[in-house]
Amino acid sequence: MRKKGRILLLDDDELIISMLSRALRKEGYETQLLHSSEMAVEKIIAWQPDMMFLDIELGEELDGLDILRMLQAERINFPVVMLTGDDSSDSAIKALRYGASDYLHKPFNVEEVKIVVDRILKNSRMQDEIDYLKRAQVEKNGQPFIGESAAIIQLLDDARKIATAGVSSILITGKSGTGKEVLARNLHHWRFAEQQGFETVPFIAINCTALPENLIEGELFGHVKGAFTDAKSDKKGVFELANGGTLLLDEIGDMRPDLQGKLLRVLEERTVRRVGGKVDLPIDVTIIASTNRDLKKLVAEGLFREDLYYRLSSFFINIPPLCERETDVIRLTEYFLQKFAQKYSKKQVKTLAKEAEELMLEYLWPGNVRELRNVIERCVVMESAPVLGVECLPLDIGGRKADSIERRKKFQILLPEEGISLEEVEREYLQLALERTNNNMTKAAKLLKVSYDVFRYQAKKYNLL
Ligand SMILES: Nc1ncnc2c1ncn2[C@@H]1O[C@H](COP(=O)(O)OP(=O)(O)OP(=O)(O)O)[C@@H](O)[C@H]1O
Ligand SMILES: [Mg+2]
Repeated sequence: MRKKGRILLLDDDELIISMLSRALRKEGYETQLLHSSEMAVEKIIAWQPDMMFLDIELGEELDGLDILRMLQAERINFPVVMLTGDDSSDSAIKALRYGASDYLHKPFNVEEVKIVVDRILKNSRMQDEIDYLKRAQVEKNGQPFIGESAAIIQLLDDARKIATAGVSSILITGKSGTGKEVLARNLHHWRFAEQQGFETVPFIAINCTALPENLIEGELFGHVKGAFTDAKSDKKGVFELANGGTLLLDEIGDMRPDLQGKLLRVLEERTVRRVGGKVDLPIDVTIIASTNRDLKKLVAEGLFREDLYYRLSSFFINIPPLCERETDVIRLTEYFLQKFAQKYSKKQVKTLAKEAEELMLEYLWPGNVRELRNVIERCVVMESAPVLGVECLPLDIGGRKADSIERRKKFQILLPEEGISLEEVEREYLQLALERTNNNMTKAAKLLKVSYDVFRYQAKKYNLL
């Protein structure tokens, strides 16, 4: 039979602990007994218990409290339950102050001990799980948004302003793998890092398409017991869980229309009502919505509510695709080369051969930064040479010498059968540049590589100002 947990017992009263040990073994626990404080700390640490019982009055030089403090100094992370024969609770309370999980008065009832053990081990397992998940979160939260192209520098500057201003909702758009989630976590950081107790400020991410239809509403808004068949108890939704922090609603473009309406209500009224609930609960959450779809187009097609679109898009950040940011391809390559060299303990950080770098610059990166990251990870793992050549790149990068078709795709230039007016094309680009730069003509002119005056003249000609 698999043992349920390892429990160490330290008491100078042999009768008591052998009785306790027998009872616990019968329940399926593994036990180890110690009768004196001699070398106790070393022995305890060496055996690595899941929890321990520690007698306070050991009748020796060291008593239980001394041992507890020594264990704490060693930063043990298993729960300790103190045993005491003292009728008053003084020493037991002291023990709790020193970090004990609980205490029991002797003589104790075996049933009570079983309940305590069960509860403590359950809590401790749950704590382990939480610690594990938190570690994964911390790693994700600490991820910087890498990029030094003009577009990204501007974007980060805007993003920081938006975050620190404390606005209540932000929309991030960008193709798949451009770093929307990385940016969202950075926004959260800029918004709350200065705040006391930042580690406990929640960042909750939910993918609006990942859940089955019938569960998503309860997941978002919570539900009260009995609201529907499976609602066996009250449950908080993600808005409540993210209260005081940030909620990332990923793939907002795919949210069901009825839920879009409910989301709008939450945004406007800053309250949520659980499914089946009767009260509106106030919430204070920074909502970040993200999507790789063209929301404006979805609005035009009647698939996304216009009012919600306007509500979300007052603070709007668009991450351009990677193929439009050549300097970032280089910078991100360096970053991931270093990161994965460290992760896979490769002694020296590799560099890319010139031709490989050129191919990477010409490649279109349909999977954006995610794809680049995967390519580099593979290179670092598979290659042993210090300089990574063309042959380590996957076939569709290394094999397909970027030809003019690919290059044209980058600009999405198409010449329809019936022809096209050059003026129309020009107007379209001027318009695009204005849109991308929020009507900043200096920047728009730069984007189209013309002087400010030329840009202004042209824009006027096409009635764009
Ligand atoms: N600017 C960046 N700096 C560092 N890493 C990045 C950057 N952008 C993206 N990444 C990495 O690329 C991967 C994808 O990023 P992320 O999940 O944020 O993309 P996304 O835009 O949310 O994609 P999707 O639309 O598919 O959900 C992650 O592994 C992330 O670490
Ligand atoms: Mg994402």
